Amino acid sequence: MMLKDKVAVIYGAGGAIGGAVARAFAPEGANLFLTGRHPEPVDVVARDVVSAGGSAEAAEVDALDEMAVDRHLQSVIDTAGRVDISFNAVGIPNTRILGVPLMELDAGQFSLPITTYTRSYFLTARLAARRMVPNGSGVIMTVTALHSRTGIPLVGGYGPAMAAKEALTRALSAELAPQGIRVVGLRPQAMPETRTIMDAFEPRAKASGMTWEQWQEFLAGRTHARRLMTLAEMADMAVFLASDKASGMTGTTVNLTMGSLDD
Ligand SMILES: NC(=O)c1ccc[n+]([C@@H]2O[C@H](COP(=O)([O-])OP(=O)(O)OC[C@H]3O[C@@H](n4cnc5c(N)ncnc54)[C@H](OP(=O)(O)O)[C@@H]3O)[C@@H](O)[C@H]2O)c1
Repeated sequence: MMLKDKVAVIYGAGGAIGGAVARAFAPEGANLFLTGRHPEPVDVVARDVVSAGGSAEAAEVDALDEMAVDRHLQSVIDTAGRVDISFNAVGIPNTRILGVPLMELDAGQFSLPITTYTRSYFLTARLAARRMVPNGSGVIMTVTALHSRTGIPLVGGYGPAMAAKEALTRALSAELAPQGIRVVGLRPQAMPETRTIMDAFEPRAKASGMTWEQWQEFLAGRTHARRLMTLAEMADMAVFLASDKASGMTGTTVNLTMGSLDD
């Protein structure tokens, strides 16, 4: 087991990526504390994990609310004694940020993903780090997208938000790695089995006239493997990065775009 007895907190655990990561961490022996803004989807993941023999507790936590994140982390410490892994998989609905040309975009809509993604990553990372430093170990993780490194039309402030998160990963690592804490991100290509990618397709469909199948082929055609990644593949990589097997890796975002983006 790669994560035996590791205490992991996942934010946005009711979402596609958070849920997949939870389901991959559990059989590797992690003790999971799953959180989300709305309880129902998080409860579903926690029940699945427990019914498969894993350990998971669900809690309602708004990852933009500093006090709520802090209170929850304290409850994890009170229950499990420590926090080993903090995984921020929070995503804001695409419909609120995509589809409007930059020339026509309202400044508030442009700023929304930048402030939301960076605030939630900063808060969850900072508050976890404060609990990890006394133990001299821990792993802080999050997810970005290839928009951080390449120009894509009709994505508003999403690209700048992803670039900011990757910069924060490097900065957190520069400050925390000397104290035994690794900070690593994952940058997956689109995983079409997720609702997120279906929603992201809508504005592109209107602008390009492509069908859902043609759009998936277009994205897959940009990978070396000529196919898109599955959630399970992304989650397997998350297991490795969270584990001590990845002890040599910090201050970086792992390029999981299957060749769509050069390093
Ligand atoms: N899906 C992909 O193929 C893919 C590829 C590359 C990158 N990404 C990025 O990865 C991230 C997650 O993607 P996803 O597909 O898993 O999205 P998702 O299925 O929409 O999940 C996002 C989760 O975040 C939760 N959330 C939103 N605001 C929150 C808050 N303030 N506090 C706590 N939880 C909050 C949502 O819960 P509620 O619905 O209850 O608010 C939801 O469960 C996004 O940044 C996305 O852009 C996704």
